[in-house]
Amino acid sequence: MKKLIAGNWKMNGSLAANESLLHALAEGLADEAASEIAICVPAVYLAQVQSLKKTVARLAPLGVGAQDVSAQLEGAYTGEISARMLLDMGCRYVIVGHSERRQYHAETDVLVAEKTRAALGVGITPIVCVGETLMEREAGYTEEVVKRQLAAVVHANGHCISEIVVAYEPVWAIGTGKTPSPEDAQSVHAVLRAQLKAATDQFSRVRILYGGSMNATNASALLAQPDIDGGLIGGASLKSVDFLKIIAAAQV
Ligand code: PGA
Repeated sequence: MKKLIAGNWKMNGSLAANESLLHALAEGLADEAASEIAICVPAVYLAQVQSLKKTVARLAPLGVGAQDVSAQLEGAYTGEISARMLLDMGCRYVIVGHSERRQYHAETDVLVAEKTRAALGVGITPIVCVGETLMEREAGYTEEVVKRQLAAVVHANGHCISEIVVAYEPVWAIGTGKTPSPEDAQSVHAVLRAQLKAATDQFSRVRILYGGSMNATNASALLAQPDIDGGLIGGASLKSVDFLKIIAAAQV
């Protein structure tokens, strides 16, 4: 299984900044990447990214994703974007249940599970984020929290979950420069792997990414862990040099 390195631009970028970032990435991307690479961009820029991919040949292997999707299929949901619309825009991935959405938009485990189903329904790969807060970690609830979050997705999607990507993102590690030790991250990944194994005999298809302050320096050690199948990268995906270093770290 190839590793997946996915950038999460969050609410960053502009037409000009995106264009220069993508040109810089194109310069550094190898022809035969040993891992899969994707960027999840603000929905308003999907068209720009797709058109750059058509004109800049070296961007061809780059998978494109969105950062959220509606749980509804269509209709009177002002401001929402459906999975079918994302498919129309050539999305291969969509992030669901990112902790920033759980926190600032009150997304529940059930809603995240429904969004996962909406994405799977049109053949887009949902990148389902799970992770504990600092308080939960300190209270010793890490396993319980991530298992509860993943269980909701398993419950609503049955063995279709063999088609998802999971991202373990400890909330306290996101954008803070702090990370768990590779061994601590690995132990949570192993818990998630076991949970997937119990849910589907196709569990080996599911990649479990680590996210939260992954950068050019710590990527190799994290990606070397047996159950870390890639990364979901926020801040460092906005700097071409750093993102390319993380991509290179995934090749070995
Ligand atoms: P970060 O974000 O790499 O900036 O910590 C990761 C994420 O939120 O997906």
